[in-house]
Amino acid sequence: MTSISTPEKLIELPEEHRPLLQNLVYLTKAQVIVEVGVAEAKTTEWLCEGAKVVGGKVYGYDIWNTHGLKNQFQHWSSKEKCEKHLTDRGYTNFELTQIDSKTPEFRELIKTRHPVIDLAFIDGCHSYEGIKNDFEAIYPQLGPFGVIVFHDTLRIDGCREFIIDLRTKYNDGRFDIVEFPFGSMVISDTPTGVPHLQQRHVGIAMLVRRSYAQSPDTIDEICNLEDRSKEIYRKEQDWYIDELIKAGNMTFCTAYMDAIKQYTAHEDSKNK
Ligand SMILES: C[S@@+](CC[C@H](N)C(=O)[O-])C[C@H]1O[C@@H](n2cnc3c(N)ncnc32)[C@H](O)[C@@H]1O
Repeated sequence: MTSISTPEKLIELPEEHRPLLQNLVYLTKAQVIVEVGVAEAKTTEWLCEGAKVVGGKVYGYDIWNTHGLKNQFQHWSSKEKCEKHLTDRGYTNFELTQIDSKTPEFRELIKTRHPVIDLAFIDGCHSYEGIKNDFEAIYPQLGPFGVIVFHDTLRIDGCREFIIDLRTKYNDGRFDIVEFPFGSMVISDTPTGVPHLQQRHVGIAMLVRRSYAQSPDTIDEICNLEDRSKEIYRKEQDWYIDELIKAGNMTFCTAYMDAIKQYTAHEDSKNK
């Protein structure tokens, strides 16, 4: 059980979140993992565990100070405590930075330090402005097979509103959004109160790059009666082009269509 204590209440993320984060790193073989909102480094620990298996590194960012749009949340942890928490458990595959993610310095740091991000966990400021800001800093660096996980997207107003806008307003046609209306939390009203499992779900949403139509991995086993591989690739490409056009992403759409043309010309010349 991982806990986040504030003067007013104690919130704990049950272990049920651990396998999801740990195995996402494992499954995607993410090398560069970015977490915004480290708090006490509990989720950071789970990301580090996954990263250990695939040789990745976790970069955690947190203000570790009073936060919230109304400065309503006091902090209770620190960068040093988090580093100790992780090193005590044997992890060396992390780097923590104390920074306000709403500053231009944060954007610049993300841009220069992480040319490609494979996996991001956004769990920082939960206001609409906060989550949007963190998304805007991370997304331009997201790799072609990248994933962004957002926490508390069912429970908290800013996060929930941002996810529906991500589907609609901010969708550039290059990703899918999957909502998981799962994940519980344990809460007590005071640090000395008896913690109880809240029966409601917190919600986790994932942004996943639309990658099949661009994947270098082709079909290598035929279970249909006849081989329709080329038709399948064509259907995927047509669908992706339609989605990019629908989203008004003509810059990427043109680049994508050029890449297909080049690839097709290359394949044709090989077959001559
Ligand atoms: C919900 S907690 C993160 C919990 C952690 N991921 C876990 O589950 O163990 C949110 C964290 O975001 C941080 N945060 C809030 N606003 C921030 C900002 N503007 N810049 C950086 N960190 C911020 C807070 O300090 C807090 O530690």
